[in-house]
Amino acid sequence: MQCTKQSPHQVQLLATSQKHDQVIILDFDSQYSQLIARRIREMGVYCQLLPATIDPQKIIRAQPKGIILSGGPQSVTDSNALKIPQIVFELNCPLLGICYGMQALIHQLGGTIGSTHAAEFGHATISYEKDSTLFNAIDTSSSQLNVWMSHNDHVTQLPHGFRGIAHTDRCTYAAIEDPERNYYGIQFHAEVTNTEHGADMLNNFVRIICGAQATWQPSNIIEECITSIQQQVGNERVILALSGGVDSSVVAALLHRAIGNQLHCIFVDTGLLRHDEQRAITILKEQLGINVSCIDASHQFLTALQGITDPEAKRKIIGHEFIAVFEQQAPLFADAQWLAQGTIYPDIIESASEHKTIKSHHNVGGLPAHMNLKLLEPIKTLFKDEVRKLGVALGLPAKTVYRHPFPGPGLGVRILGEIKQEYIEALRQADAIYMDELHAHNLYSKVAQAFAVFLPIKSVGVKGDVRHYGYVITLRAVTTTDFMTADWAHLPYDFLTHVANRIVNEIPVISRVTYDITSKPPATIEWE
Ligand code: XMP
Repeated sequence: MQCTKQSPHQVQLLATSQKHDQVIILDFDSQYSQLIARRIREMGVYCQLLPATIDPQKIIRAQPKGIILSGGPQSVTDSNALKIPQIVFELNCPLLGICYGMQALIHQLGGTIGSTHAAEFGHATISYEKDSTLFNAIDTSSSQLNVWMSHNDHVTQLPHGFRGIAHTDRCTYAAIEDPERNYYGIQFHAEVTNTEHGADMLNNFVRIICGAQATWQPSNIIEECITSIQQQVGNERVILALSGGVDSSVVAALLHRAIGNQLHCIFVDTGLLRHDEQRAITILKEQLGINVSCIDASHQFLTALQGITDPEAKRKIIGHEFIAVFEQQAPLFADAQWLAQGTIYPDIIESASEHKTIKSHHNVGGLPAHMNLKLLEPIKTLFKDEVRKLGVALGLPAKTVYRHPFPGPGLGVRILGEIKQEYIEALRQADAIYMDELHAHNLYSKVAQAFAVFLPIKSVGVKGDVRHYGYVITLRAVTTTDFMTADWAHLPYDFLTHVANRIVNEIPVISRVTYDITSKPPATIEWE
Protein backbone atom coordinates (compact mmCIF):
# COMPACT_ATOMS: atom_id res chain seq x y z
CA MET A 1 0.00 0.00 0.00
CA GLN A 2 1.30 3.46 -0.84
CA CYS A 3 -0.03 5.01 2.33
CA THR A 4 2.37 4.48 5.21
CA LYS A 5 2.33 5.65 8.81
CA GLN A 6 4.40 8.68 9.66
CA SER A 7 6.82 8.91 12.54
CA PRO A 8 6.83 12.02 14.72
CA HIS A 9 9.92 13.12 12.76
CA GLN A 10 7.78 13.32 9.65
CA VAL A 11 4.55 14.42 11.21
CA GLN A 12 3.41 17.71 9.81
CA LEU A 13 1.57 19.47 12.59
CA LEU A 14 -1.98 20.30 11.79
CA ALA A 15 -1.38 23.77 10.43
CA THR A 16 -3.98 25.08 12.80
CA SER A 17 -2.51 23.59 15.98
CA GLN A 18 0.23 26.22 15.68
CA LYS A 19 -2.38 28.74 16.77
CA HIS A 20 -2.33 27.18 20.22
CA ASP A 21 0.18 27.64 22.99
CA GLN A 22 2.09 24.44 23.09
CA VAL A 23 4.47 22.54 25.29
CA ILE A 24 7.03 20.09 23.93
CA ILE A 25 7.94 16.89 25.72
CA LEU A 26 11.38 15.70 24.70
CA ASP A 27 11.37 11.94 25.04
CA PHE A 28 14.51 10.31 26.41
CA ASP A 29 12.84 6.89 26.06
CA SER A 30 10.82 6.92 29.24
CA GLN A 31 8.04 4.39 29.70
CA TYR A 32 5.97 7.30 31.05
CA SER A 33 6.38 9.89 28.25
CA GLN A 34 2.92 9.30 26.82
CA LEU A 35 1.47 9.81 30.27
CA ILE A 36 3.11 13.24 30.53
CA ALA A 37 1.52 14.17 27.21
CA ARG A 38 -1.88 12.95 28.36
CA ARG A 39 -1.72 14.92 31.59
CA ILE A 40 -1.00 18.11 29.67
CA ARG A 41 -3.71 17.53 27.08
CA GLU A 42 -6.10 16.87 29.99
CA MET A 43 -5.39 20.44 31.11
CA GLY A 44 -6.59 21.63 27.70
CA VAL A 45 -3.06 22.58 26.59
CA TYR A 46 -1.69 21.33 23.28
CA CYS A 47 1.56 19.34 23.50
CA GLN A 48 3.72 17.19 21.28
CA LEU A 49 5.93 14.28 22.23
CA LEU A 50 9.16 14.46 20.23
CA PRO A 51 12.26 12.24 20.38
CA ALA A 52 15.26 13.81 22.16
CA THR A 53 17.20 13.35 18.91
CA ILE A 54 14.77 15.44 16.84
CA ASP A 55 15.99 17.99 14.30
CA PRO A 56 16.42 21.24 16.33
CA GLN A 57 14.68 23.21 13.58
CA LYS A 58 11.45 21.41 14.44
CA ILE A 59 11.72 22.55 18.04
CA ILE A 60 12.27 26.15 16.89
CA ARG A 61 9.33 26.02 14.51
CA ALA A 62 6.99 24.76 17.24
CA GLN A 63 7.66 27.93 19.31
CA PRO A 64 7.05 26.09 22.59
CA LYS A 65 5.90 27.93 25.69
CA GLY A 66 7.92 25.39 27.68
CA ILE A 67 9.78 22.12 27.34
CA ILE A 68 9.55 19.03 29.52
CA LEU A 69 12.52 16.67 29.52
CA SER A 70 11.28 13.13 30.18
CA GLY A 71 12.81 10.36 32.22
CA GLY A 72 14.86 7.64 30.55
CA PRO A 73 16.66 4.36 31.19
CA GLN A 74 20.23 5.61 30.67
CA SER A 75 22.74 7.17 33.06
CA VAL A 76 23.77 10.70 32.05
CA THR A 77 27.38 9.67 32.65
CA ASP A 78 27.23 6.91 29.97
CA SER A 79 29.39 7.77 26.97
CA ASN A 80 26.44 7.35 24.60
CA ALA A 81 23.86 9.01 26.89
CA LEU A 82 21.18 11.06 25.13
CA LYS A 83 21.79 14.78 25.57
CA ILE A 84 19.49 17.77 25.76
CA PRO A 85 19.87 19.52 22.37
CA GLN A 86 21.66 22.89 22.70
CA ILE A 87 18.73 24.68 21.10
CA VAL A 88 16.63 23.90 24.18
CA PHE A 89 18.84 26.24 26.24
CA GLU A 90 18.81 28.94 23.57
CA LEU A 91 15.02 29.30 23.35
CA ASN A 92 14.77 30.97 26.74
CA CYS A 93 11.65 29.06 27.64
CA PRO A 94 10.89 27.32 30.95
CA LEU A 95 12.25 23.78 31.36
CA LEU A 96 11.10 20.97 33.59
CA GLY A 97 13.35 17.90 33.85
CA ILE A 98 11.79 14.71 35.17
CA CYS A 99 14.14 12.03 36.58
CA TYR A 100 16.71 11.48 33.78
CA GLY A 101 15.61 14.82 32.31
CA MET A 102 16.50 16.58 35.58
CA GLN A 103 19.86 14.80 35.80
CA ALA A 104 20.68 15.67 32.18
CA LEU A 105 19.75 19.30 32.86
CA ILE A 106 22.02 19.51 35.90
CA HIS A 107 24.84 17.57 34.23
CA GLN A 108 24.83 19.79 31.14
CA LEU A 109 24.71 22.98 33.24
CA GLY A 110 27.82 21.97 35.23
CA GLY A 111 26.41 20.22 38.33
CA THR A 112 27.33 16.70 39.37
CA ILE A 113 25.49 13.39 39.35
CA GLY A 114 26.28 10.47 41.65
CA SER A 115 25.24 6.86 41.41
CA THR A 116 25.73 5.43 44.89
CA HIS A 117 23.49 4.84 47.91
CA ALA A 118 20.49 6.87 46.82
CA ALA A 119 18.60 4.56 44.46
CA GLU A 120 14.84 4.61 45.11
CA PHE A 121 12.14 2.55 43.40
CA GLY A 122 8.45 2.85 44.16
CA HIS A 123 6.88 4.98 46.87
CA ALA A 124 8.93 7.62 48.67
CA THR A 125 8.04 10.57 50.88
CA ILE A 126 9.33 14.01 49.97
CA SER A 127 9.44 17.07 52.22
CA TYR A 128 8.89 20.09 50.01
CA GLU A 129 9.21 23.91 50.12
CA LYS A 130 5.78 25.46 49.87
CA ASP A 131 7.14 28.73 48.52
CA SER A 132 8.20 27.22 45.18
CA THR A 133 5.84 27.96 42.27
CA LEU A 134 6.09 24.29 41.33
CA PHE A 135 4.20 23.46 44.53
CA ASN A 136 1.77 26.36 44.22
CA ALA A 137 -1.50 25.67 46.11
CA ILE A 138 -0.26 22.25 47.22
CA ASP A 139 -0.60 22.79 50.90
CA THR A 140 -0.38 19.58 52.91
CA SER A 141 -0.19 20.24 56.65
CA SER A 142 2.92 18.09 57.04
CA SER A 143 4.73 19.63 54.01
CA GLN A 144 5.20 16.06 52.87
CA LEU A 145 3.95 14.17 49.82
CA ASN A 146 3.94 10.57 48.70
CA VAL A 147 5.66 10.32 45.30
CA TRP A 148 6.71 7.65 42.79
CA MET A 149 10.46 7.22 42.32
CA SER A 150 12.41 5.10 39.86
CA HIS A 151 16.10 6.01 39.80
CA ASN A 152 19.64 4.86 40.49
CA ASP A 153 21.52 8.13 39.84
CA HIS A 154 20.88 11.34 41.72
CA VAL A 155 21.98 14.96 41.73
CA THR A 156 24.82 15.54 44.21
CA GLN A 157 25.80 19.13 43.44
CA LEU A 158 23.74 21.92 41.93
CA PRO A 159 25.01 24.42 39.39
CA HIS A 160 25.01 28.11 40.30
CA GLY A 161 21.50 29.63 40.53
CA PHE A 162 19.69 26.44 41.62
CA ARG A 163 18.28 25.52 45.03
CA GLY A 164 16.77 22.33 46.40
CA ILE A 165 12.99 22.52 46.92
CA ALA A 166 12.32 18.94 48.07
CA HIS A 167 14.25 16.05 49.60
CA THR A 168 13.73 12.50 50.83
CA ASP A 169 15.68 10.54 53.47
CA ARG A 170 17.95 9.18 50.75
CA CYS A 171 17.98 11.95 48.19
CA THR A 172 19.05 15.55 48.95
CA TYR A 173 17.66 16.95 45.73
CA ALA A 174 14.27 15.36 45.05
CA ALA A 175 13.18 18.63 43.38
CA ILE A 176 15.13 21.73 42.36
CA GLU A 177 14.56 25.13 40.82
CA ASP A 178 16.30 28.08 39.30
CA PRO A 179 13.41 30.58 39.25
CA GLU A 180 15.52 33.21 37.47
CA ARG A 181 15.91 31.07 34.37
CA ASN A 182 12.63 29.18 34.98
CA TYR A 183 14.43 25.83 35.14
CA TYR A 184 12.84 23.13 37.31
CA GLY A 185 13.60 19.50 38.02
CA ILE A 186 11.92 16.64 39.86
CA GLN A 187 13.55 13.31 40.60
CA PHE A 188 10.14 11.61 40.91
CA HIS A 189 7.42 11.00 38.33
CA ALA A 190 4.66 13.61 38.66
CA GLU A 191 2.87 12.09 35.66
CA VAL A 192 1.90 8.81 37.37
CA THR A 193 -1.18 8.72 39.55
CA ASN A 194 0.84 7.23 42.44
CA THR A 195 2.39 10.68 42.98
CA GLU A 196 0.17 12.79 45.23
CA HIS A 197 -0.63 16.16 43.58
CA GLY A 198 1.51 15.16 40.57
CA ALA A 199 -1.05 16.59 38.12
CA ASP A 200 -1.07 19.84 40.16
CA MET A 201 2.71 20.15 39.85
CA LEU A 202 2.52 19.67 36.07
CA ASN A 203 -0.33 22.16 35.97
CA ASN A 204 1.76 24.68 37.92
CA PHE A 205 4.61 24.27 35.45
CA VAL A 206 2.49 24.43 32.30
CA ARG A 207 -0.11 27.02 33.27
CA ILE A 208 1.77 29.29 35.70
CA ILE A 209 5.48 28.96 34.92
CA CYS A 210 5.08 28.57 31.13
CA GLY A 211 1.90 30.65 31.04
CA ALA A 212 0.34 28.32 28.45
CA GLN A 213 -3.33 28.99 27.66
CA ALA A 214 -5.78 26.09 27.82
CA THR A 215 -7.25 26.52 24.34
CA TRP A 216 -7.08 22.86 23.26
CA GLN A 217 -10.80 22.13 23.72
CA PRO A 218 -13.15 19.93 21.66
CA SER A 219 -15.00 22.79 19.97
CA ASN A 220 -11.73 24.41 18.85
CA ILE A 221 -10.27 21.10 17.79
CA ILE A 222 -13.31 20.34 15.62
CA GLU A 223 -13.24 23.74 13.98
CA GLU A 224 -9.56 23.45 13.22
CA CYS A 225 -9.71 19.85 12.00
CA ILE A 226 -12.46 20.93 9.62
CA THR A 227 -10.44 23.84 8.23
CA SER A 228 -7.40 21.62 7.86
CA ILE A 229 -9.39 18.88 6.06
CA GLN A 230 -10.94 21.45 3.71
CA GLN A 231 -7.52 22.89 2.92
CA GLN A 232 -6.00 19.49 2.22
CA VAL A 233 -8.84 17.91 0.27
CA GLY A 234 -10.23 20.88 -1.69
CA ASN A 235 -12.95 19.48 -3.93
CA GLU A 236 -11.45 15.99 -4.26
CA ARG A 237 -13.21 12.85 -3.06
CA VAL A 238 -12.44 10.76 0.01
CA ILE A 239 -13.23 7.17 0.93
CA LEU A 240 -13.31 5.75 4.42
CA ALA A 241 -13.62 2.12 5.49
CA LEU A 242 -16.04 2.42 8.36
CA SER A 243 -15.99 -0.27 11.04
CA GLY A 244 -18.53 1.22 13.45
CA GLY A 245 -15.80 1.63 16.08
CA VAL A 246 -15.20 4.99 17.72
CA ASP A 247 -12.16 6.12 15.70
CA SER A 248 -13.59 5.54 12.23
CA SER A 249 -17.02 6.86 13.30
CA VAL A 250 -15.47 10.11 14.58
CA VAL A 251 -13.46 10.46 11.36
CA ALA A 252 -16.67 9.93 9.37
CA ALA A 253 -18.58 12.56 11.35
CA LEU A 254 -15.70 15.02 11.10
CA LEU A 255 -15.20 14.53 7.36
CA HIS A 256 -18.92 14.78 6.77
CA ARG A 257 -18.98 18.18 8.48
CA ALA A 258 -15.93 19.29 6.51
CA ILE A 259 -16.68 18.01 3.01
CA GLY A 260 -20.24 16.60 3.04
CA ASN A 261 -20.92 14.35 0.07
CA GLN A 262 -17.33 14.34 -1.12
CA LEU A 263 -17.01 11.60 1.52
CA HIS A 264 -18.00 8.05 0.69
CA CYS A 265 -17.93 5.48 3.54
CA ILE A 266 -17.88 1.75 3.01
CA PHE A 267 -19.08 -0.60 5.70
CA VAL A 268 -18.45 -4.30 5.16
CA ASP A 269 -20.64 -6.83 6.92
CA THR A 270 -18.29 -9.78 7.25
CA GLY A 271 -20.89 -11.97 8.92
CA LEU A 272 -18.59 -11.85 11.95
CA LEU A 273 -20.09 -8.76 13.56
CA ARG A 274 -21.76 -8.35 16.92
CA HIS A 275 -25.46 -8.06 17.51
CA ASP A 276 -25.92 -4.28 17.23
CA GLU A 277 -23.14 -3.41 14.81
CA GLN A 278 -25.50 -2.18 12.10
CA ARG A 279 -27.18 0.16 14.58
CA ALA A 280 -24.11 2.39 14.82
CA ILE A 281 -23.96 2.56 11.05
CA THR A 282 -27.66 3.32 10.75
CA ILE A 283 -27.20 6.29 13.09
CA LEU A 284 -24.34 7.65 10.99
CA LYS A 285 -26.38 7.18 7.85
CA GLU A 286 -29.83 8.28 8.90
CA GLN A 287 -29.31 10.72 11.76
CA LEU A 288 -26.11 12.38 10.59
CA GLY A 289 -26.78 11.97 6.85
CA ILE A 290 -23.39 10.45 6.10
CA ASN A 291 -22.93 8.76 2.75
CA VAL A 292 -22.40 5.03 3.63
CA SER A 293 -22.57 1.98 1.39
CA CYS A 294 -23.22 -1.17 3.41
CA ILE A 295 -21.90 -4.25 1.69
CA ASP A 296 -23.16 -7.61 2.85
CA ALA A 297 -20.20 -9.87 2.18
CA SER A 298 -21.00 -12.39 4.90
CA HIS A 299 -21.47 -15.30 2.50
CA GLN A 300 -18.13 -14.59 0.85
CA PHE A 301 -16.26 -14.43 4.19
CA LEU A 302 -17.92 -17.48 5.72
CA THR A 303 -17.39 -19.57 2.60
CA ALA A 304 -13.69 -18.70 2.55
CA LEU A 305 -13.40 -19.62 6.23
CA GLN A 306 -15.05 -23.04 5.90
CA GLY A 307 -12.96 -25.81 7.43
CA ILE A 308 -10.21 -23.44 8.64
CA THR A 309 -9.17 -23.93 12.28
CA ASP A 310 -5.77 -22.26 12.62
CA PRO A 311 -6.12 -18.73 14.10
CA GLU A 312 -3.43 -17.14 11.94
CA ALA A 313 -4.87 -18.73 8.80
CA LYS A 314 -8.31 -17.33 9.77
CA ARG A 315 -6.85 -13.83 10.19
CA LYS A 316 -5.11 -14.03 6.81
CA ILE A 317 -8.26 -15.17 5.04
CA ILE A 318 -10.33 -12.40 6.65
CA GLY A 319 -7.73 -9.79 5.64
CA HIS A 320 -7.61 -11.18 2.12
CA GLU A 321 -11.41 -11.15 1.79
CA PHE A 322 -11.55 -7.50 2.90
CA ILE A 323 -9.29 -6.57 0.01
CA ALA A 324 -11.28 -8.75 -2.37
CA VAL A 325 -14.49 -6.96 -1.33
CA PHE A 326 -12.92 -3.54 -1.93
CA GLU A 327 -11.69 -4.64 -5.33
CA GLN A 328 -15.18 -5.84 -6.25
CA GLN A 329 -16.61 -2.53 -5.09
CA ALA A 330 -13.95 -0.38 -6.81
CA PRO A 331 -16.43 1.34 -9.16
CA LEU A 332 -18.09 2.85 -6.07
CA PHE A 333 -15.03 4.92 -5.32
CA ALA A 334 -13.27 5.03 -8.66
CA ASP A 335 -13.04 8.81 -8.51
CA ALA A 336 -11.61 9.02 -4.97
CA GLN A 337 -8.18 10.56 -4.46
CA TRP A 338 -7.98 10.19 -0.68
CA LEU A 339 -8.18 7.34 1.79
CA ALA A 340 -9.15 8.51 5.27
CA GLN A 341 -8.00 6.53 8.30
CA GLY A 342 -8.73 6.71 12.00
CA THR A 343 -5.06 6.70 13.05
CA ILE A 344 -4.69 8.24 16.51
CA TYR A 345 -1.68 9.70 18.31
CA PRO A 346 -0.67 6.57 20.28
CA ASP A 347 -0.48 4.63 16.97
CA ILE A 348 2.01 7.17 15.67
CA ILE A 349 4.05 7.26 18.85
CA GLU A 350 4.12 3.47 19.10
CA SER A 351 5.10 2.87 15.51
CA ALA A 352 7.85 5.52 15.71
CA SER A 353 9.46 4.26 18.90
CA GLU A 354 12.50 2.12 18.25
CA HIS A 355 13.16 1.18 21.82
CA LYS A 356 9.84 0.25 23.35
CA THR A 357 7.71 -2.82 22.88
CA ILE A 358 5.57 -2.18 19.87
CA LYS A 359 2.03 -3.48 19.89
CA SER A 360 1.62 -5.63 16.85
CA HIS A 361 -1.24 -3.97 15.09
CA HIS A 362 -3.13 -6.93 13.75
CA ASN A 363 -5.58 -4.92 11.74
CA VAL A 364 -7.30 -6.23 8.72
CA GLY A 365 -8.68 -4.20 5.88
CA GLY A 366 -6.89 -1.59 3.88
CA LEU A 367 -7.08 -1.07 0.18
CA PRO A 368 -5.05 -2.56 -2.66
CA ALA A 369 -1.71 -0.83 -3.24
CA HIS A 370 -2.33 -0.08 -6.89
CA MET A 371 -5.14 2.32 -6.02
CA ASN A 372 -2.47 4.86 -5.07
CA LEU A 373 -4.57 7.02 -2.76
CA LYS A 374 -3.35 9.93 -0.66
CA LEU A 375 -3.66 9.33 3.05
CA LEU A 376 -5.85 11.57 5.23
CA GLU A 377 -5.53 11.11 9.00
CA PRO A 378 -7.56 13.90 10.62
CA ILE A 379 -7.33 12.64 14.22
CA LYS A 380 -3.68 11.60 14.24
CA THR A 381 -2.70 14.19 16.86
CA LEU A 382 -5.37 13.09 19.34
CA PHE A 383 -5.45 10.65 22.21
CA LYS A 384 -8.35 8.23 22.58
CA ASP A 385 -10.07 10.26 25.30
CA GLU A 386 -9.85 13.36 23.08
CA VAL A 387 -11.33 11.42 20.15
CA ARG A 388 -14.21 10.43 22.42
CA LYS A 389 -14.82 14.04 23.49
CA LEU A 390 -14.86 15.01 19.83
CA GLY A 391 -17.33 12.23 19.08
CA VAL A 392 -19.73 13.53 21.71
CA ALA A 393 -19.35 17.11 20.45
CA LEU A 394 -20.03 15.91 16.89
CA GLY A 395 -23.34 14.39 17.97
CA LEU A 396 -22.42 10.71 17.98
CA PRO A 397 -24.40 8.73 20.54
CA ALA A 398 -22.59 7.94 23.80
CA LYS A 399 -23.04 4.23 23.12
CA THR A 400 -20.90 4.50 19.99
CA VAL A 401 -18.38 6.84 21.52
CA TYR A 402 -17.76 4.81 24.66
CA ARG A 403 -17.84 1.41 23.00
CA HIS A 404 -15.20 -1.12 23.92
CA PRO A 405 -12.67 -1.96 21.19
CA PHE A 406 -13.66 -4.68 18.74
CA PRO A 407 -10.99 -6.38 16.64
CA GLY A 408 -11.07 -6.10 12.85
CA PRO A 409 -11.46 -9.89 12.35
CA GLY A 410 -14.49 -9.66 14.65
CA LEU A 411 -16.12 -12.77 16.06
CA GLY A 412 -13.77 -14.73 13.81
CA VAL A 413 -11.13 -14.53 16.54
CA ARG A 414 -13.65 -15.20 19.31
CA ILE A 415 -14.78 -18.58 18.02
CA LEU A 416 -12.03 -21.10 18.64
CA GLY A 417 -11.35 -23.44 15.74
CA GLU A 418 -13.64 -23.63 12.74
CA ILE A 419 -16.24 -20.90 12.26
CA LYS A 420 -19.79 -22.13 11.70
CA GLN A 421 -23.04 -20.21 11.39
CA GLU A 422 -24.48 -22.04 14.43
CA TYR A 423 -21.49 -20.92 16.53
CA ILE A 424 -21.70 -17.32 15.32
CA GLU A 425 -25.37 -17.11 16.24
CA ALA A 426 -24.83 -18.54 19.72
CA LEU A 427 -21.86 -16.26 20.36
CA ARG A 428 -23.65 -13.16 19.06
CA GLN A 429 -26.59 -13.86 21.37
CA ALA A 430 -24.37 -14.58 24.40
CA ASP A 431 -22.36 -11.42 23.78
CA ALA A 432 -25.55 -9.35 23.48
CA ILE A 433 -26.86 -10.69 26.80
CA TYR A 434 -23.51 -9.96 28.47
CA MET A 435 -23.40 -6.39 27.08
CA ASP A 436 -27.04 -5.69 28.02
CA GLU A 437 -26.42 -6.78 31.57
CA LEU A 438 -23.14 -4.84 31.85
CA HIS A 439 -25.05 -1.70 30.82
CA ALA A 440 -28.02 -2.48 33.07
CA HIS A 441 -25.75 -2.98 36.08
CA ASN A 442 -23.69 0.11 35.31
CA LEU A 443 -20.56 -1.99 34.86
CA TYR A 444 -19.86 -1.45 31.15
CA SER A 445 -17.89 1.75 31.66
CA LYS A 446 -16.01 0.28 34.63
CA VAL A 447 -14.13 -2.21 32.46
CA ALA A 448 -11.91 -1.44 29.47
CA GLN A 449 -13.16 -4.33 27.36
CA ALA A 450 -15.62 -7.17 27.84
CA PHE A 451 -16.82 -9.86 25.48
CA ALA A 452 -17.94 -13.46 25.15
CA VAL A 453 -15.95 -16.28 23.54
CA PHE A 454 -17.34 -19.48 21.99
CA LEU A 455 -15.61 -22.78 22.79
CA PRO A 456 -16.61 -25.54 20.37
CA ILE A 457 -16.39 -28.31 22.93
CA LYS A 458 -19.35 -29.99 24.50
CA SER A 459 -19.99 -30.78 28.12
CA VAL A 460 -22.89 -32.38 29.91
CA GLY A 461 -25.45 -30.35 31.82
CA VAL A 462 -29.05 -30.67 32.95
CA LYS A 463 -31.81 -28.53 31.47
CA GLY A 464 -35.44 -29.07 32.47
CA ASP A 465 -34.58 -32.34 34.23
CA VAL A 466 -33.03 -33.83 31.11
CA ARG A 467 -29.43 -34.39 30.18
CA HIS A 468 -28.14 -31.63 27.96
CA TYR A 469 -24.92 -31.90 25.94
CA GLY A 470 -23.96 -28.37 24.87
CA TYR A 471 -21.17 -25.92 24.07
CA VAL A 472 -19.27 -23.58 26.39
CA ILE A 473 -19.28 -19.77 26.51
CA THR A 474 -16.45 -17.99 28.29
CA LEU A 475 -16.90 -14.45 29.53
CA ARG A 476 -13.91 -12.12 29.50
CA ALA A 477 -13.60 -8.62 31.05
CA VAL A 478 -10.38 -6.70 31.58
CA THR A 479 -9.20 -3.46 33.11
CA THR A 480 -6.34 -1.68 31.36
CA THR A 481 -5.38 1.74 30.10
CA ASP A 482 -3.12 0.81 27.21
CA PHE A 483 -4.27 -2.73 26.26
CA MET A 484 -0.63 -3.82 26.27
CA THR A 485 -0.98 -5.27 29.75
CA ALA A 486 -4.32 -5.98 31.40
CA ASP A 487 -5.83 -7.39 34.56
CA TRP A 488 -8.99 -9.50 34.61
CA ALA A 489 -11.86 -7.47 35.95
CA HIS A 490 -13.24 -8.54 39.32
CA LEU A 491 -16.91 -8.40 38.32
CA PRO A 492 -19.35 -9.14 41.16
CA TYR A 493 -20.25 -12.83 41.61
CA ASP A 494 -23.98 -12.07 41.66
CA PHE A 495 -23.69 -10.31 38.35
CA LEU A 496 -21.76 -13.20 36.78
CA THR A 497 -24.29 -15.69 38.12
CA HIS A 498 -27.12 -13.69 36.59
CA VAL A 499 -25.42 -13.45 33.16
CA ALA A 500 -24.52 -17.16 33.19
CA ASN A 501 -28.13 -18.09 34.01
CA ARG A 502 -29.48 -15.98 31.20
CA ILE A 503 -27.03 -17.40 28.66
CA VAL A 504 -27.70 -21.02 29.55
CA ASN A 505 -31.46 -20.50 29.73
CA GLU A 506 -31.84 -18.41 26.57
CA ILE A 507 -29.37 -20.10 24.22
CA PRO A 508 -30.35 -23.73 23.64
CA VAL A 509 -26.95 -24.94 22.40
CA ILE A 510 -25.03 -23.67 25.45
CA SER A 511 -24.72 -25.82 28.56
CA ARG A 512 -22.00 -24.06 30.53
CA VAL A 513 -20.51 -20.59 31.14
CA THR A 514 -17.02 -19.89 32.53
CA TYR A 515 -15.22 -16.66 33.48
CA ASP A 516 -11.63 -16.00 32.40
CA ILE A 517 -9.36 -14.95 35.30
CA THR A 518 -6.03 -14.68 33.44
CA SER A 519 -4.18 -11.41 33.11
CA LYS A 520 -2.15 -10.20 30.14
CA PRO A 521 0.62 -11.31 30.21
CA PRO A 522 0.75 -14.29 30.25
CA ALA A 523 -2.56 -14.45 28.36
CA THR A 524 -3.67 -11.99 25.67
CA ILE A 525 -6.95 -10.12 25.86
CA GLU A 526 -8.57 -11.90 22.92
CA TRP A 527 -8.91 -15.68 22.74
CA GLU A 528 -8.08 -17.25 19.45
P1 XMP B 1 -4.59 -8.85 22.48
O1 XMP B 1 -5.51 -10.01 22.24
O2 XMP B 1 -3.45 -8.81 21.50
O3 XMP B 1 -5.47 -7.56 22.16
O4 XMP B 1 -4.15 -8.76 23.90
C1 XMP B 1 -5.11 -6.24 22.51
C2 XMP B 1 -6.19 -5.32 21.99
O5 XMP B 1 -6.17 -5.33 20.56
C3 XMP B 1 -7.45 -5.71 20.07
N1 XMP B 1 -7.22 -6.53 18.87
C4 XMP B 1 -7.37 -6.06 17.63
N2 XMP B 1 -7.73 -4.84 17.18
N3 XMP B 1 -7.55 -5.61 14.96
C5 XMP B 1 -7.82 -4.63 15.84
O6 XMP B 1 -8.17 -3.51 15.43
C6 XMP B 1 -7.18 -6.86 15.32
O7 XMP B 1 -6.93 -7.73 14.51
C7 XMP B 1 -7.09 -7.09 16.74
N4 XMP B 1 -6.75 -8.19 17.49
C8 XMP B 1 -6.85 -7.80 18.80
C9 XMP B 1 -8.09 -6.51 21.19
O8 XMP B 1 -9.51 -6.52 21.08
C10 XMP B 1 -7.59 -5.74 22.39
O9 XMP B 1 -8.36 -4.58 22.59
